[in-house]
Amino acid sequence: MAMRNETIDGVPQGALRGSMRDFRVMQGKDLLGRCEAFYSWQDTRRQSGTWPFSRATEKGPASSCAVRDDAGVLTKGVNFASQDYLSLSSHPAVLEAAKQAIDEFGVHSAGSPALVGNTSTSVALERRLAEFMQMEEAILYPTGWAAGFGVIKGLVRSHDYIVMDALAHACLQTGAQAATRNVILFRHNDVDHCRSRLVDIRRRDPDAGIMVVTEGLFSMDSDTPDLAALQSLAHEFGAVLMVDVAHDLGCLGEDGTGHIGIQNMLGKVDLVMGSFSKTFGSNGGFVATKSRAVKEYLRFYSPSCTFSNALSPPQVATITKALDIVQSEEGKFLRGQLMANILTLRSEVRRLGMDCYGDPSAIVCVKTGDEAFARMTARDLPRRGLIANLVEFPAVGKGLARFRLQVMAGHRNEEILAAAHRLDAAMRSARSQLDAGFEPVSRRLAG
Ligand SMILES: Cc1ncc(COP(=O)(O)O)c(C=O)c1O
Repeated sequence: MAMRNETIDGVPQGALRGSMRDFRVMQGKDLLGRCEAFYSWQDTRRQSGTWPFSRATEKGPASSCAVRDDAGVLTKGVNFASQDYLSLSSHPAVLEAAKQAIDEFGVHSAGSPALVGNTSTSVALERRLAEFMQMEEAILYPTGWAAGFGVIKGLVRSHDYIVMDALAHACLQTGAQAATRNVILFRHNDVDHCRSRLVDIRRRDPDAGIMVVTEGLFSMDSDTPDLAALQSLAHEFGAVLMVDVAHDLGCLGEDGTGHIGIQNMLGKVDLVMGSFSKTFGSNGGFVATKSRAVKEYLRFYSPSCTFSNALSPPQVATITKALDIVQSEEGKFLRGQLMANILTLRSEVRRLGMDCYGDPSAIVCVKTGDEAFARMTARDLPRRGLIANLVEFPAVGKGLARFRLQVMAGHRNEEILAAAHRLDAAMRSARSQLDAGFEPVSRRLAG
């Protein structure tokens, strides 16, 4: 297909073409000046309404809210773009706990956990988390990203290997690249391919350390590996398994222990790493281990822990109260409500003829594929009243764009139905605009 017109409904070709991949490796000695090429492309998209990133909620992530885009335009809509799966970030008991912590401890940790950055409450939270995961120890990090990066960089050295699911999160990939050049990817959720990677490594290097890395629930595909199979595979080859549970811990499973609990693997995975920012209402992350030695080593050799300030007292209080709720009858009720909302959204999306990825979880990714189509759809969503994240490269591969709708327990039924209908209407309108603006190759050749 070729574009017949210079613009499609006012959107220039340049905004519909290209991707962030084009600007990843920049040439030339002018480190600052060479950012201009990216900015110019981004601004073409911004000015044409096809840059739906860097938006700010006016007053926080409610299930319906107002957001301002980075061109300054304010819109309102149903919000499926925030990560607050059990809606705990506005729970009255959580708010109260954070306020009390400020009164009692102040607002700042004022130090690294390797020095005196912990408080009595963060030490207690580490213990609570270890128990929740049925592990011996847990160690806190300032963000989930820092935990994912830090657990790998902290434990893996340049002569070791990382065998990682090809779709693992950026924090894991970046940690792996920082730790060793021996980073080997296996096909997404493919245990046999992981095995063949391990066979190759052990043939070459019988004595190297190997960390196998995967996620409990993949954040763009909403699917899950066979954790028992990966764990026993890792042990068969003298490797350790590390599982990132950012998106399932707290919000999935009867008791909130996510896919590790669902798969009866509590206490059996070598290393578990998680984030509090999806379900526990706060920035922050953790690593859980069966060994005090590993925890102590991480504290002093994992740079994103050692050389970064500890979680602040209000963050710790928020997470601790959120964990109380996750482990209570109310938590079970909220997980039930969340799952009911997820199932409603997925079935409405499909009933309207759209398709979504993976298994039921708080992440409902609706397929668009082609970036031009996705960007034209994204442009239409604010005026229709849907706040949803467009996902394109580098978060997913080129040509695999999608809208990621993130469901909360607090979404009302009418908000869920509105989201599906508004997305469908925006997609239809984008499709007809593109059909009008593109010329089929056969007609172009004939002409
Ligand atoms: C799978 C996964 N791991 C880690 C992180 C990082 O967590 P945080 O945003 O809390 O730093 C994220 C969040 O984007 C994630 O999706």
